[in-house]
Amino acid sequence: MASAAAVVHPAPRVRGRVRPPGDKSISHRYALLAAIADGPSLIRGYSTGADCASTLRCLRGLGVTVEQATRLAGGGTDVRIAGLGPRGFRPPGSILDAGNSGSTIRMLAGILAAQAFATSLTGDESLCRRPMRRIIVPLERMGARIASEDGRPPLTIHGTASLSPIDFTPEVPSAQVKSAVLLAGLHADGTTRVHETIATRDHTERALVAFGGRVTTADGTVAVEGGQRLRGCDLLVPGDISSAAFWMVAASALPDSEVVVDEVGLNPTRTGIIDVLQRMGADITIDRGAAADDGEPMGTITVRHRELRRTHIEPDEVPGVIDELPVLAALATHGGELSVSGAGELRVKESDRISALADGLRRMGADIEEQPDGFHVRGARRLRGGEVDAHNDHRLAMAFAVAALGATGPTTIHDAGAAAVSYPEFFSVLESLRA
Ligand code: S3P
Repeated sequence: MASAAAVVHPAPRVRGRVRPPGDKSISHRYALLAAIADGPSLIRGYSTGADCASTLRCLRGLGVTVEQATRLAGGGTDVRIAGLGPRGFRPPGSILDAGNSGSTIRMLAGILAAQAFATSLTGDESLCRRPMRRIIVPLERMGARIASEDGRPPLTIHGTASLSPIDFTPEVPSAQVKSAVLLAGLHADGTTRVHETIATRDHTERALVAFGGRVTTADGTVAVEGGQRLRGCDLLVPGDISSAAFWMVAASALPDSEVVVDEVGLNPTRTGIIDVLQRMGADITIDRGAAADDGEPMGTITVRHRELRRTHIEPDEVPGVIDELPVLAALATHGGELSVSGAGELRVKESDRISALADGLRRMGADIEEQPDGFHVRGARRLRGGEVDAHNDHRLAMAFAVAALGATGPTTIHDAGAAAVSYPEFFSVLESLRA
């Protein structure tokens, strides 16, 4: 379904202070674990994005009581979840809708593999195009049966109370796949192991510990023992560094800019964006918080503009910046140069992010070359602006907006409303940072 368009005018600079919405990846995990824990949980600063609302909607469909309370200033909502224990879900009366959220459908599938009933999960047009074999294969090896539309949603998960543990090496580095297997493993009869050749975000591992679970990580292998019970708890979700990335890039791009980002997550599996921005020339100061909160470190990041340089992102580095690649391409349109390889996964995100990104930036006047597994942007010429299509992809809508700030004329972004999937406040924050 198409969403509203936005017109973004150029900006000479951005200046100000931002508290990004609660981290999307962490919000999903806290909600899912709270639902299968014993006792109540309070999740403070839960993401305001539509994706995390999809996770709550699916949990309600499974009989979980979820209450949402007052919004914190810019920081999300507070969510109370009454945990039902490891096998307390009720078979849903109808198909569950994961909306646009790959994290919801893939991670929830891991939990549903262990529930002894059938659940059907679907999503929007984009989600129904995305590959699910990556979770179907391991979850079926563990004993669940999963029907799909040729490896894509809708999925019907026939769970079982007797899952077998597996040793599994995902074909693509993916935290969602790792998490689905670990969450199923939590209910299996023995120890489940996931081997990672390239490390991906470790929020599930940290969240399991916060909920009183045991998980070990050594030499790229994450192991979880089955039969554990989790305990409900009170957690604060740090601000989302993937949402903060738009302002970090805007401040790096525009002369005389300075943006301070408060209470932002600094988990080392997510801070690749800081390394890349520094290599491209940005002046970044990090003030780490006094103590890590519930296993998830957070702090304050200050970003100031300096002249941009060229850099390359290697395949090993890709999982750490996978969601930031569109906005890093936008950065390179402001000067400097960026090439990326080993990022073929971008083609199976909310849109084909390589082709839709190249098409949009080119329409704005960029010099961008598309490759099967990446792209190359040369920023020597200034963008002129124009009309672009975000393909209902939140990260593209916001990346185009950041590119548009450096153009000579305005840019109309079709489907800009997609930003609400992770950052509903994005366009109003953008206006507040113009200086
Ligand atoms: C996510 C993992 C990544 C990322 C997505 C969120 C997660 O996806 O792109 O936005 O929360 O685990 P993959 O696991 O498919 O790489």
